[in-house]
Amino acid sequence: MTLFTPQGREDPYPLYAQLRETAAVLKTPFGGWMVTRYEPVDRVLRSAAFRTPRGFREANDPAGPPRMDPNGMLTLHRRHWLLFQSGEAHTRLRKLIMKVFTPRAVRALAPRVEGLVTELLRPALERGSMEVISELAYPLPATVICELLGIPAEDRERNRAWAAVTAATVDLQTCSDAQLALAEVSMREWDAYIRELLATRRKQPAGALLDDMLAVEEEGLRLTEDEIAANATFLFLAGHETTTNLIGNGLYALLRHPAQLAALYATPSLVENAIEELLRFDSPVQFAPRVALEPLEIEGVQVEREIPIALMLASANRDPRRHDRPDELDVARVDPKPLSFGGGAHYCVGAALARLEAQHAFAALVASTRGIGLATERVAWRPSLGLRGLEALQVTLER
Ligand code: HEM
Repeated sequence: MTLFTPQGREDPYPLYAQLRETAAVLKTPFGGWMVTRYEPVDRVLRSAAFRTPRGFREANDPAGPPRMDPNGMLTLHRRHWLLFQSGEAHTRLRKLIMKVFTPRAVRALAPRVEGLVTELLRPALERGSMEVISELAYPLPATVICELLGIPAEDRERNRAWAAVTAATVDLQTCSDAQLALAEVSMREWDAYIRELLATRRKQPAGALLDDMLAVEEEGLRLTEDEIAANATFLFLAGHETTTNLIGNGLYALLRHPAQLAALYATPSLVENAIEELLRFDSPVQFAPRVALEPLEIEGVQVEREIPIALMLASANRDPRRHDRPDELDVARVDPKPLSFGGGAHYCVGAALARLEAQHAFAALVASTRGIGLATERVAWRPSLGLRGLEALQVTLER
């Protein structure tokens, strides 16, 4: 069984367990490395001896010829995505983005998120059934990120289509040349759209994140238009599919563990802890990529510079060295402490927002039903390795 078969995608956890017990650091079929245990994954995430691999290469890159046109639109955007910055450049950009993405700004969204969940659940509750992904798990974060950025509601689906094509190329090791070519065309359209929106907003601000990014200033530093456009596409990408998968994977896990769902019905105040445990149990982001700046050792294994290293967050979350009964779902688990939002310098900017959305979604589902049932025998997982999520999840709702 490998991670790349449909069977492996359905349940990668037995394979992760095997790999974890074989070694903390293993060679991958792509010639890179994979780190499987909690402690070294956590340590590498926090270490300044590694950086995120940018995924684009200059024409004279020692690692080999570029897969993307170094002057293409995809390259331009990736060059400015926060995730792919390092050192000083990362600190500066992150500080400017965090300035407009404060915990207070996120907390202020709570009433809107709650209202949106109620709105989205209403027709499903009347019907007594729901396709969770398309009716709740996708539209909730997608609507919130559009509103937060200031992307008009009628443009949401266009942005979603551009994002889906781009997302397929985030992991350059597994995407095809055809996917890259398609993403280049799509990114040109997306970029033109965002810049047109920015031009409108310069004349007529709408009080959203895009406007704040245009206005933000810190110690004389501003964001350039290239940085704003690129991080608008990145925030849209990062801000919806991951949260969709937290809600989808999380509910599916609860439905397969009815005693845990019952515990949540009995004690709704467990919801915050339950979200942490659901993140741990089936992580929406399965791994974080890194490269070493210089040759070094991880757990006694010599790792070359610039060679891709996959930090297996999902495997680390199930490491018995860190958690008792790691393969059991326990919504009351003390200190689930998942690595699902990463750690260190690149710790997820949207963690508070994702938690807020998931907490409201699960709290409302439990508060407005007497029971939720799985209405399908088999579920299909999306083909991506890095972003783990369901194509669809059909359930019955009992009131
Ligand atoms: C359940 C939902 C989410 C999960 C599991 C998740 C996971 C992650 C992970 C693992 C990283 C670190 C990647 C690395 O170190 O290589 C990350 C970074 C990031 N995430 Fe999230 N994310 C989620 C939701 C969001 C949302 C809602 C937003 C924005 C609205 C967001 C924006 C970002 C950004 C901007 C970064 C880059 C931070 C940096 O490089 O400094 N994420 N996320």
